[in-house]
Amino acid sequence: MANIIVCHSRKGGVGKTTEAYELAYELDAVLVDLEHDGGGATRKWGYRPQDRVKVPLLDAIRSGRVPKPMKGFKKPLLVPGHPDLYDQAPSEEVMAEALVRWAEEWDTEWVVVDTHPGSSPHGHGALSVANVVLAPTPLRTLDLDATEQLIDELADYPLVISPSMVPPVPPARAVERLTRMIEGTPVQVGPPIPAASHVGTRTKRIAITAEEPPAKPLRAFAAAITDTAKYLREYVQ
Ligand SMILES: Nc1ncnc2c1ncn2[C@@H]1O[C@H](COP(=O)(O)OP(=O)(O)O)[C@@H](O)[C@H]1O
Ligand SMILES: [Mg+2]
Repeated sequence: MANIIVCHSRKGGVGKTTEAYELAYELDAVLVDLEHDGGGATRKWGYRPQDRVKVPLLDAIRSGRVPKPMKGFKKPLLVPGHPDLYDQAPSEEVMAEALVRWAEEWDTEWVVVDTHPGSSPHGHGALSVANVVLAPTPLRTLDLDATEQLIDELADYPLVISPSMVPPVPPARAVERLTRMIEGTPVQVGPPIPAASHVGTRTKRIAITAEEPPAKPLRAFAAAITDTAKYLREYVQ
């Protein structure tokens, strides 16, 4: 069965979607997008739910079938998200069972799940079957507040904090706080992902890690994604 990575946080704008997209590409994973709002991986990939009749994720759950991931050029395999996930989301149990079955049936070693910020029953279903809960966390006060809550609630989950958007000189007090937060818990910290303003202004759909080589301002970011993928391969063993 494939390993399931769930990208999750109690806060938006922390880098979940960016990391989920890039890691899914880097790991040859199927990316399952549980985001119902715009501005997520599905839109970035180039899939427009409003132009489609089907809702691949919810249709699969209702019919008991395994959804067929969509293929793209230099983009991750995708099971797209949909606005209907807001008010027609599956229950915790149904979501958990579906993901496990898909992870068994798909011919892949990895499934990456991107989530809407905050807790929800179906989001929790995904967390409950995760081999890794990856929590991107910028080293900023409010983002650390949110991650502190996550650690408190999910300390016994396979939780890996991914310091995101890290400036060239990481703020020492924030680093100390993060170190204290995980002390005495099994929670791990993955390789830091550097801040790179080009990540936010780029308009291409292909993964940054698919570029050979990425534009210079994106190279450190791409290298950190590769490091994170390697870290995750070792983590699940
Ligand atoms: N390492 C980074 N450096 C600079 N900007 C980033 C970085 N990672 C993500 N961003 C930008 O920050 C914003 C929020 O990231 P996103 O991945 O959408 O977060 P989330 O899914 O947690 O809401 C986006 O505009 C994204 O392009
Ligand atoms: Mg997102």
